[in-house]
Amino acid sequence: MKIAIVTGASSGMGKEFVRQIDERCYGLDEIWMLARRREEMEELNGQTQAKLRIFPVDVSDKVMLGQFEECLAIEQPNVKILVNCAGYGKTGAFDHIGKEENLGMIDVNCRGLTAVTYSVLPYMTRHSYIIHLASAAAFLPQPDFAVYAATKSYVLSFSRALRREVMSRGICVSAVCPGPVKTDFFRIAEQTGETFALKKFFYAQKEKVVRQALLGAFRKKEVIVYSLPMQGFCALTKALPHRVLLDVYSKMLGIDG
Ligand SMILES: NC(=O)c1ccc[n+]([C@@H]2O[C@H](COP(=O)([O-])OP(=O)(O)OC[C@H]3O[C@@H](n4cnc5c(N)ncnc54)[C@H](OP(=O)(O)O)[C@@H]3O)[C@@H](O)[C@H]2O)c1
Repeated sequence: MKIAIVTGASSGMGKEFVRQIDERCYGLDEIWMLARRREEMEELNGQTQAKLRIFPVDVSDKVMLGQFEECLAIEQPNVKILVNCAGYGKTGAFDHIGKEENLGMIDVNCRGLTAVTYSVLPYMTRHSYIIHLASAAAFLPQPDFAVYAATKSYVLSFSRALRREVMSRGICVSAVCPGPVKTDFFRIAEQTGETFALKKFFYAQKEKVVRQALLGAFRKKEVIVYSLPMQGFCALTKALPHRVLLDVYSKMLGIDG
C-alpha cells in the first residue's frame, strides 16, 4: 500500500499539503493525517481521490506515538512522502512566555518531528520524499521569538544532515523555509506577545508556499526558501555577521542590545 503521511494536517499548510499531494501524486492509496484535532481533519473527507486515514495524535505524546508506530507495524505501508508540518511558535520575551510553552515548542517542533521521522523511515524505499517545515526563522536567532527560531534551526540542520545519510537509499530530504504565511500560526503565536510589525508586509499564501515546497522537493532541492524577500534575507544572514544583524534587529524591536 503506497501512502503519504502528513503531520499538522488539521490546519494551515499541513491541510494544504494533503490537498495538493492528493491532486499531484497519482497512485497513492492512502494519505495518513496526524494532528490533535480530529474534526478539522475530517473536513477533507470525501474531497480526495486517495483514502484519508485520520490519526488524532499529539506528536509530543510518547504513548500516542507508540500507538501510531503499532499501526505502521501492522499495515507495513510503503511511505512515498512524509511531510512533517506539525509545529507552533510563541512570540514574546523568553521569561514572559513561560516554561511550559518554551519547552512545548521544543517537544513538538524538535522531538515530535524527530520521533515521527524515526518511526516512519523504516517504511520508506527508493523514490520517496521527506519534507520538513523549518522556517526563515532558522537563518538567524530571533529575540522575542528565541525558542521558536532555535527549534527551526534544529529542523534545518537535522534535515540537511539526514539528507546525506539517506540519499544513497533513494530517499530525498528537503527543508522548507518560508517567511510569514497566512495561517492560524500567528493567532497562536500572538497569545503571548505581539508579532514584529514588519513581518506582516511579507505574508505569503499557504497555497503558493505548499506548491513551491512540493515542486522543490520533487526536484530534490535541499532547502526551499519561499519568496524573493526571504531569499534576500537568507543571503543577508550568510553575508553579514549575525552579531551585526542581531544588533540592528534588536534596535528595531526596541530591545537594548
Ligand atoms: N505560518 C507561518 O508563518 C510559518 C512560517 C514558517 C514555518 N512555519 C511552520 O509551518 C508549520 C505549519 O504551520 P502553519 O502555518 O500551517 O500553522 P497552523 O495553521 O497553526 O498549523 C499547525 C499544525 O500543527 C499541528 N500541531 C500543533 N501542535 C501539535 C501537536 N502537539 N501534535 C500534533 N500536531 C500539532 C496543529 O494541529 P492540532 O492543533 O490539531 O494539533 C496544526 O495542524 C509549522 O511547523 C510552523 O512552524 C509556519
